[in-house]
Amino acid sequence: MEHKYFDVAEIYADIEAKDKFDMGDILTKYEDYGFSHRWIQTPVACYFINTYDQNGNLNSTPVSMGTAMWGEPAECGWYFCFNMHNRRQGRKNLMLTRECTVSYYTADLLTESWIAGMPIPSGISEADVAKMTELPSKQVSVPGIAECVSNLEVKIVDTYPLSNNTLFIGKVVSCSVQKDALERDMAIEDEPGLGGVDLLYECSITGKTPRLNYGRLDTAKRYRTDDKLGDENRWIGNFNTWMDSEEKRGRITADEHAKLLELNKAWGLNRDPKANKAVKDELTALLRDICWREVK
Ligand SMILES: Cc1cc2nc3c(=O)[nH]c(=O)nc-3n(C[C@H](O)[C@H](O)[C@H](O)COP(=O)(O)O)c2cc1C
Repeated sequence: MEHKYFDVAEIYADIEAKDKFDMGDILTKYEDYGFSHRWIQTPVACYFINTYDQNGNLNSTPVSMGTAMWGEPAECGWYFCFNMHNRRQGRKNLMLTRECTVSYYTADLLTESWIAGMPIPSGISEADVAKMTELPSKQVSVPGIAECVSNLEVKIVDTYPLSNNTLFIGKVVSCSVQKDALERDMAIEDEPGLGGVDLLYECSITGKTPRLNYGRLDTAKRYRTDDKLGDENRWIGNFNTWMDSEEKRGRITADEHAKLLELNKAWGLNRDPKANKAVKDELTALLRDICWREVK
C-alpha cells in the first residue's frame, strides 16, 4: 500500500504566508498543494448553533466543525464540542451568554441551511429569513428550531482558542426530538437515531463559484459488528471479561485463556517494548491469532 505524505503544518504555514484565504476561510485545493483538508476532516453532520445576542436577537449559524462526546462518572453526561471562527456572530454571542441550542437539520432543510449561512446582518434572525419556526427551550433561554429533527440545549462549560477560532465545550442538558422520527427509531431494532434520519454532511467546497457540496448517508442499512468476537455481555468490557467470553464461545481453549491472562499480567508489569520484548511479541501473536479465528 503506497501513501502520499503531506506536511500539513508546512502547507498551512505557506497558505498563511501567501494570504490564501477566502475572507478568513482556508479552502485548500488540489490545484495548489495536491492536498485537500477533506483528508483531515471526515464528512460531518451539519447543524445550526442558535444563540442570542446582548439585545435578545436570535442568531442561527450553520456549523459542521464539531461533534458530541460522552463522559463517564463522576459528573457523567453528554458534551457537545464545536469550533467557530472568531468573526462569527454566533461566537460573539456565545462568549457573552454561554448557552445555545444545537439543531440537527435533515436534507429537506438544505435550502434553509444555505440561506442561514448567508452574511445576514447582525441581529436579523437567520431562522426568520429562512422561514423556520422557533421551538421554545426549557433549560436555556435560546430556542431551538421546530423543523429540525433533534434540538439540544447546551450550556458552555469551557472554551479554548484555536488559530483565530474558538473551540466551545458545552454540556448537553436536554434534547427535543421530533416525535415521528423518535417513533420510527423505536420501531427499528438497531436504533440508529440520527444515523437513520437524512442528515446533511459537509463534504467539500468546490467550483469557480465556490459552493458547498453536501453528502447524504444511506440511512436504510447498518453494518453490525461481529456478535462472536468480544465481551458477550458488554459492548467493550475489559481484558478479563473479554477472554472469559472467548473461552465460553469456544474461540480459545482453557489453556490459551490461562496463557493469555499470564502474558497480560507479565506485560502489565513492564510495558517497555525493548526490555519486555518477548512477552509483548508472544501476547501480540496470540491475540492476532485468536481475533481472526472462525467461530462456529
Ligand atoms: C454547512 C455549513 C457549515 C459551516 N460550518 C462552520 C463551522 O464549523 N464553523 C464556522 O465558524 N463557520 C461555519 N460555517 C460558516 C458560517 O455558518 C457562516 O459564515 C455564517 O454566515 C456565520 O454566521 P454568524 O456570523 O451569524 O454566526 C458553515 C456554513 C455552512 C453553510
